[in-house]
Amino acid sequence: MTSKKRIALSSDHAAIELRQTIANHIAAQGYEVVDIGPTTPESTDYPKHGEAAARLVASNDCQLGIIICGTGQGIMMAANKVKDIRCGVCHDTFSARMIRQHNDANMLAFGARVIGEGLALEIVDAFLGSKFEGGRHAKRVDMIKALDD
Ligand code: RB5
Repeated sequence: MTSKKRIALSSDHAAIELRQTIANHIAAQGYEVVDIGPTTPESTDYPKHGEAAARLVASNDCQLGIIICGTGQGIMMAANKVKDIRCGVCHDTFSARMIRQHNDANMLAFGARVIGEGLALEIVDAFLGSKFEGGRHAKRVDMIKALDD
């Protein structure tokens, strides 16, 4: 595993239980989990939860973030509107590894209504356990960063 990091975690109502499972799973690995909720199952709006986690990452209060909604798509779209955020939706472990290695993604999104708990935990492990490779990928990530301006 890479060095221990602070991980921002949020979801909408579709993933309250899965988020708790993930929080416990990564805390057991030594990560510091900043779980910003929500904690109750009432319907809530995924953009504000995606944004809140993204702001923690963009400010470097947390080094990486994990966000979950029904599909992962809406919360990812909201997070990617925050400057300096690179968030991908992953429903397989290969993509979760590659968005760190090639895209220097600092946030992972997925859908609690798309995958089960076992695969979600493997995806989280693949994401957190991978590092940006730099090299030829750095120029391309810089091109993404330039789109923030
Ligand atoms: C909520 O019903 C649902 O729209 C949300 O969790 C997510 O899938 C949006 O992208």
